[in-house]
Amino acid sequence: MRVWGEMLCLVLGLVLVTRSVVEAKWSIEACNSSESEACPSLLSYILPWDSKVSEIATRFGVNVNDILASNAVFPITAWSGQKILRKQSEVRIPISCCCVDGIRRSVSTIYTVSAADTFASISEGYGGLVTAQQIKILNGIDALTYGATILIPLPCTCFNNLNNAATAIYITYVVQRRDTLESIATKFGTTLSDLQTVNGFGEPTVHPGDILSVPLPACSSAAFNWYHDAIILPNASYTLTAANCIKCTCQPTDFTLQCVPSGLDVPCYNLRCKGSHLIIGDQCVDHSETACNVTQCVYRGHRGGKILSSVKNSSYLRCPDNLYHSGASCSPYPEDLFGMSPRSSPLPLPVSKASPSTLASSGRLDQFLILVLQLFFLKLILRFLI
Ligand SMILES: *[C@@H]1O[C@H](CO)[C@@H](O)[C@H](O)[C@H]1NC(C)=O
Ligand SMILES: *[C@@H]1O[C@H](CO)[C@@H](O)[C@H](O)[C@H]1NC(C)=O
Ligand SMILES: *[C@@H]1O[C@H](CO)[C@@H](O)[C@H](O)[C@H]1NC(C)=O
Ligand SMILES: *[C@@H]1O[C@H](CO)[C@@H](O)[C@H](O)[C@H]1NC(C)=O
Repeated sequence: MRVWGEMLCLVLGLVLVTRSVVEAKWSIEACNSSESEACPSLLSYILPWDSKVSEIATRFGVNVNDILASNAVFPITAWSGQKILRKQSEVRIPISCCCVDGIRRSVSTIYTVSAADTFASISEGYGGLVTAQQIKILNGIDALTYGATILIPLPCTCFNNLNNAATAIYITYVVQRRDTLESIATKFGTTLSDLQTVNGFGEPTVHPGDILSVPLPACSSAAFNWYHDAIILPNASYTLTAANCIKCTCQPTDFTLQCVPSGLDVPCYNLRCKGSHLIIGDQCVDHSETACNVTQCVYRGHRGGKILSSVKNSSYLRCPDNLYHSGASCSPYPEDLFGMSPRSSPLPLPVSKASPSTLASSGRLDQFLILVLQLFFLKLILRFLI
């Protein structure tokens, strides 16, 4: 029932606007300015000309590091901002999506008019994310003054950071020549029906210049109650938090957030868990015959320049899958697990595919595996369909 409630909100929140001035359509999200908070959102920016990363950052009024993180570029060096990206490259720009005059949009981009500028050239510079007309209307001007600063409104949506009841971040995409709705869905790893539902398009046709909202599956820190920190992060990207000391990544396998020290050249204190030899992100795995005990030092937020962390103990009958790809600094894992005898219990347990050494051990286990896989795919399908 809750799911339908959310869907209803989603559909009601949508208005499809068609302007006569430009034939493009774009989806906008209505909001209540008095009670809507800003949400994290992304722009898909297709470079109109060759640009350095630092120039793109200035153009949109965002931080170079945040652009690198949103595009999963790591490590960050002193030269990262100088890297030149070619015309037509697609760059993800992280923006804060606000509620202004009853409509979701980003209003943190300020542009300084230069001598040769026209409204059309400014619009082109932003990759068609904003029209000349919109710049005129928002700024209440009909002509440009050299040296003046103007506000560049950019389209974005929040939709409560949900898509089909799963955490999502919305990216704004300007339809290019040769794009179809199918090709856009494939490009962003979403489905045609999701694109149509989100954008309220009756028929599956789009034209160059149309502006779409595309849901990206994301990780959320909501369940962790971090002090002074909350993160919603799209699949496979990362973000820097706690004054660039902590790097949190959204794991593409299971949509969990993994936070470790960033390793950047910034002063960071309290990276070690109190009363433990573990550093944030470390985990210690103790696999006995009866249980897999995991001790982790986890990020908990920050307060006045201090990073908060705590030791978390969990006990499983079999070690969870997601331990494989994390930096287990604490032996004897994973060697011990791979070497362990296959006599551990083949009970059907949460979140685990069997480890390689137990895979071939029995037919019952194979059946169990098939069951787990079936459940997994069912879950995936439900996620896209509901
Ligand atoms: C917006 O929220 C305020 C306060 O909650 C409420 O009084 C008002 O009716 C809402 N307006 C709309 C258009 O929903
Ligand atoms: C998440 O990102 C990874 C790596 O880019 C990709 O292989 C995977 O298909 C993505 N998953 C979803 C559900 O989009
Ligand atoms: C694992 O944890 C359980 C319950 O907390 C405890 O009884 C057991 O002794 C622990 N095993 C190891 C090997 O630490
Ligand atoms: C977690 O386990 C470690 C090692 O077994 C133990 O020293 C510590 O007190 C435990 N911490 C909590 C919060 O249970």
